[in-house]
Amino acid sequence: MNVNDIKWKMTVLAPDIEILPFECADKDLNEFLQNDAKNYLNSLLATTYIIQNEEDTIAYFCISHDSLNKKDEEAAKWNKINRSIPNDKRRRTYPAVKIGRLAVATKYEGYGFGRLALKAVVMMYANEQQRAGCRFVTVDAYRSALAFYEKNDFRYLTEKDKDEETRAMYFDLKSI
Ligand SMILES: CC(C)(COP(=O)(O)OP(=O)(O)OC[C@H]1O[C@@H](n2cnc3c(N)ncnc32)[C@H](O)[C@@H]1OP(=O)(O)O)[C@@H](O)C(=O)NCCC(=O)NCCS
Repeated sequence: MNVNDIKWKMTVLAPDIEILPFECADKDLNEFLQNDAKNYLNSLLATTYIIQNEEDTIAYFCISHDSLNKKDEEAAKWNKINRSIPNDKRRRTYPAVKIGRLAVATKYEGYGFGRLALKAVVMMYANEQQRAGCRFVTVDAYRSALAFYEKNDFRYLTEKDKDEETRAMYFDLKSI
C-alpha cells in the first residue's frame, strides 16, 4: 500500500477546519495537533498542513520561518554549506523554513506520507516565485526519525548534538 492507494487531501489548517482524529506514537505530537495547532496559527507562529481522508488525519506538519546561522566552532560544517553559495553571496546567516513538527498516524506509517510531507515543503519553497527568499529547510529531528531525514537528503548541521534527543538538520533547496 502507498500514498497512491488512498484517497487523501492536503489542506492548510484554518480556524473553521475540522481536525479529524489523529494518533501517532508520540503523545505530544497528538496533543499539539488537537489542542495547539490553531492557537499557533492564530498567533502567527506556525502554519499547519493536514493530510486527511474521510475518517482520519493521516499526517500533519507545521512550518515557520527560520534561519541557518554560522557557529564559529563548527567551521568545517559551515564551509560545506557555503560551498554551494556563490562567493559574493556568502553570509553568516541564510534564510530558511523550519519544519516544527511532522507526524504520520501509526495506522498510515510506511506508506510514503512522511516523504510526501517533506516533498510538499520543498515544493512550496524550491522555486523562484517564493514570497520571500528561502534557501534551506531545517528540522530538529527526533532521534528515532534521523534515518528518515537522512534518507531524504537532510544533513547534520553540527556534531555537537550527536548524543542529544533531537538533532539539527538541514536540506538545501538548491540541491533538487
Ligand atoms: C518518521 C515518520 C515521519 C516517517 O513517516 P512515514 O510516512 O512512515 O515514512 P515514509 O513511508 O514516507 O518513508 C520514507 C522512507 O523513509 C524510511 N523511514 C521511515 N521512517 C523511518 C525511520 N523512523 N527510520 C528509518 N527509516 C525510516 C522508509 O523506510 C522509507 O524508505 P524507502 O523509501 O527506502 O522504503 C513517521 O514514522 C512518524 O511520524 N513517526 C512518529 C513521529 C516522529 O518521529 N516525527 C518526526 C519528528 S522530527
